[in-house]
Amino acid sequence: MSSLQAIRDALQQSPDNISLLLLYSRACLEQLQLDEARESFEQVLELDAQQIDAHLGIARVLFLQGESSGAAVRAERVLQQEPENAQAHLLLSRVYLAEGDRAKAIEHFDRAAMIDGTMSDPALERELGRTARDVRRSSPAPLNLEAMASSEGPEDSELTLDAFDEAFDDPPYDWRPETFYTPGDPNRFGTTFADIGGMDELKEEIRLKIIYPLQFPDLYKAYGKRTGGGILIYGPPGCGKTLMLRAVAGEVPCNFLSVGLHEIFDPYFGSTERNLHQIFETARANSPCVLVFDDLDSLAQDRRNIRESQVRNLVNQFLHEMDGMKGENQRVLVIGATNQPWSLDPAFRRPGRFDQAILVPPPDAPARAQIISLLAKDKPISNLDVEALSAATVGFSGADLKWVFDRAAEMTLSAAIHSGQPIPITMDRLISVAQGHAPSTQSWFEGAQESTHAATPDAYTTEVRKFLNAASTQREP
Ligand SMILES: Nc1ncnc2c1ncn2[C@@H]1O[C@H](COP(=O)(O)OP(=O)(O)OP(=O)(O)O)[C@@H](O)[C@H]1O
Ligand SMILES: [Mg+2]
Repeated sequence: MSSLQAIRDALQQSPDNISLLLLYSRACLEQLQLDEARESFEQVLELDAQQIDAHLGIARVLFLQGESSGAAVRAERVLQQEPENAQAHLLLSRVYLAEGDRAKAIEHFDRAAMIDGTMSDPALERELGRTARDVRRSSPAPLNLEAMASSEGPEDSELTLDAFDEAFDDPPYDWRPETFYTPGDPNRFGTTFADIGGMDELKEEIRLKIIYPLQFPDLYKAYGKRTGGGILIYGPPGCGKTLMLRAVAGEVPCNFLSVGLHEIFDPYFGSTERNLHQIFETARANSPCVLVFDDLDSLAQDRRNIRESQVRNLVNQFLHEMDGMKGENQRVLVIGATNQPWSLDPAFRRPGRFDQAILVPPPDAPARAQIISLLAKDKPISNLDVEALSAATVGFSGADLKWVFDRAAEMTLSAAIHSGQPIPITMDRLISVAQGHAPSTQSWFEGAQESTHAATPDAYTTEVRKFLNAASTQREP
């Protein structure tokens, strides 16, 4: 009850805040205060008769009050206005199930699952004997994008998935994305946060910027917090930046676009900038969307030092596009990765661009233990001692750890072939391989130290030095 009271108090201050009213109505609905819920949904409609969420809310109240035909009529009306409304499909699924029409219930459930990548409804899933995640995995149909394609005329400059192929044949669209996943694309689920050891801060930052806003849109709206923004991840090679970007695809329930800058360089004057513009346009047209640039290093030079005007123009275009992302409706999260942050233009770090810069350092002891457990999975290892191996691999990157396992497996395999019988990988072998390997992150730290040492101190280099200090403590010398 206390949270209801808190929203009630907030509403007294701003009684016409539609987002707050909706939040309150939903909270009432959740606590089954149906009359109160209905009344405040009606209040929303008095302020704005077009509020689909309020129509839908009343439909839900009706359903809970046992008036399923009234609920169905309202939900159908919502779908006439917004055919891709996942919640309306979900409600219709419940209505049909209650009326005994299982086939129709499944049809609407599947539709909801495909439209909304975050949707899950354990109770309904149990009754229907299918899960939203499985539906998404088994069906590649990118429904929400299809809807956009049909609702926008071909003369519209915004790109949709269906329009991609045609569009790329025509002049302004000569760029093709390396990876473009819709929420239900089965190819995107290969890697998730669970496959990454450590990086808890980064995982949470990504959740805060794009996952939670999609799960709790009203809360974000009520508090005036925007979705998306820019995160720059940086750090020594082999510590999981690229792996993290791949996991974002598996974790984030919205469109996902990944671009290699090398793909968009074009020898013709102005074409590279146009390609970059097109990428940002595509992300905006398909928002909510995560737009990923791995290896930003090709832009990572201070504009003042760049002789090649092509790169300079591209940097300027990039900054311009990032500045254009501030509007409330542009729910795009841009994530860039680099291992040369010190040579990246300081302008990238201004608020509203990559306003969050997060170091991905070599894993600390607990993160190494996690990575070791992940790497050891499904391998024939006798008496794995995670702690001991973690202690023997201080300063190792994830890639270094992977190398230790690969090398030990290779040596064991060779011994097995010669002896003619299967031999497990031993701890001794793993430890001795680790002891013979120098962590590959060392030279990066030395380079970073030098680069920031030589630079004139400004806010940016101070930041870089700060992370170097933080990182050096993480190196557990
Ligand atoms: N935190 C981690 N958890 C699990 N595996 C990891 C982790 N970090 C690195 N690895 C392993 O190391 C490999 C290489 O890491 P990755 O390519 O992501 O590094 P990177 O930071 O992108 O390096 P670069 O700066 O050279 O691009 C991964 O594919 C993975 O097998
Ligand atoms: Mg990488």
